[in-house]
Amino acid sequence: MSADNSLAEDILKLLDKRQKLNSLSLSNELSIDHQRLVGAIKSLQSIGELIRCQQTETKRLDLTQEGRHIADNGSHEAIVFNAVPAGDDGGIEQSLLMKIIGNPSVAKLGFSKAMSQKWIAIDKSSNKSIVKRNVQSIEDEVQVLLKKIGSLTIDEVSDQQKQDLKKRKLIQEVVVKSYDIEKGDNFTLNIVKQETDLTAEMISKNTWKDKQFKDYNFDAMGIAPDRGHLHPLLKVREQFRQIFLEMGFSEMPTNRFVESSFWNFDALFVPQKHPARDLQDTFFLADPANCTQLPVEYMEKVRSVHSSGDFGSQGYQYDWKTEETQKNVLRTHTTAVSARMLYQLAQECQRDGKPFKAAKLFSIDRVFRNETLDATHLAEFHQIEGVVADVGVTLGDLMGLIQEFFLKLGIKRLRFKPTYNPYTEPSMEVYSYHDGLKKWVEIGNSGVFRPEMLLPMGLPPNVNVLGWGLGLERPTMIKYGIDNIRDLCGHKVDLQMVYDNPVCILENH
Ligand code: PHE
Repeated sequence: MSADNSLAEDILKLLDKRQKLNSLSLSNELSIDHQRLVGAIKSLQSIGELIRCQQTETKRLDLTQEGRHIADNGSHEAIVFNAVPAGDDGGIEQSLLMKIIGNPSVAKLGFSKAMSQKWIAIDKSSNKSIVKRNVQSIEDEVQVLLKKIGSLTIDEVSDQQKQDLKKRKLIQEVVVKSYDIEKGDNFTLNIVKQETDLTAEMISKNTWKDKQFKDYNFDAMGIAPDRGHLHPLLKVREQFRQIFLEMGFSEMPTNRFVESSFWNFDALFVPQKHPARDLQDTFFLADPANCTQLPVEYMEKVRSVHSSGDFGSQGYQYDWKTEETQKNVLRTHTTAVSARMLYQLAQECQRDGKPFKAAKLFSIDRVFRNETLDATHLAEFHQIEGVVADVGVTLGDLMGLIQEFFLKLGIKRLRFKPTYNPYTEPSMEVYSYHDGLKKWVEIGNSGVFRPEMLLPMGLPPNVNVLGWGLGLERPTMIKYGIDNIRDLCGHKVDLQMVYDNPVCILENH
């Protein structure tokens, strides 16, 4: 028989003797943890009509941490009194007294209480403030009261005392729930073990007739089915994907984390001396360090637009190097994927002679930057990017698209601020008004791709390409109330967080 079964039997025996019991006083009497006792009472209660049970609430006074300290060590005023030397020529300089006591808040409060109790007085007959005892001895009533507070009922302490001790934050009122129990209609001292299952054996041996069966608990929670759980980033990504799909965009293939500098930078008209191409900002691959499969003809056009200028642009006027463009990197933005797609689009109409087909494309995937890690930055994160290529589309179209896109996220107030990207002109940072922070915060970057990028690819000159991008982590952290990115990604992620977080439904969507 388990320990708690025997506890349940003890309760029955006591109940038989006394007719009535209260769980709290019983737990004191038997020195048994109240919770354990309640467990045993509940198990008795589940056996039909064995006992009658009623929950009651009693208020009790409990010591706060400071209250406990005073119960053990004496009140602040007593500490101050005791620190003042006794005797007629006793006394101590006030500043020294405060120093001896050490803890400034004990000293200050204790001093003023001891003064108002007239336990001590200040003698200013010399030039100094000398604190002297005013009485021979004191009775530390506060300590005495606090010491016995646990064993008093709430009515045994006067209202004045309660108010005073509460104001000093030495006691607090706690509500204790307990159970009053009485014998039920089917009271017995012999608990028959209730069956939870009707077995084949009980039926074949006909023993079921003599058994007692436990009632079903229809309020019990079901067992959560075992299943996989999506990480918050994946849930939010799915919502962004839905928004793009609703707006008629198709997804770009983003399964290429390792990219050549050519597609990540040069095709985007990022000069080879650009600071983003430093070791400090970009991860370069050691093996394979170089990419040798680059479209030669197109690469030569990129070389000429960078080094000597072309298509009406004077370029950057520098010595463009093949070795530099071949260097493999972990892609630093998904715009590398957009560049590949736009080149493919140009190829279809140039090489295959098909008419230019307008395109609306999007991607959401991982990018890598050699960042200093902190609460909001990791070396890898996710970008969301939209690209629209069509004849004659304008900056106004881009602003409208961005407005529409963010509206679907529930973000209404937008502002655009001119900025610089090597591959777009004009370029705009996107800001939204954050109601919580009460300020405008940057939420994305955008622009109209430069002819220096599009014309070498072979896109028709009347085709404009619009693009915008934003991070996935920030909206996810806001959505799920996570303020440190390390709680979202990496080895410190609490899997319970992944398990517990609900599906993502973005406002307005
Ligand atoms: N690639 C930019 C970034 O990393 C975003 C962007 C995409 C800007 C498309 C303009 C056009 O921030």
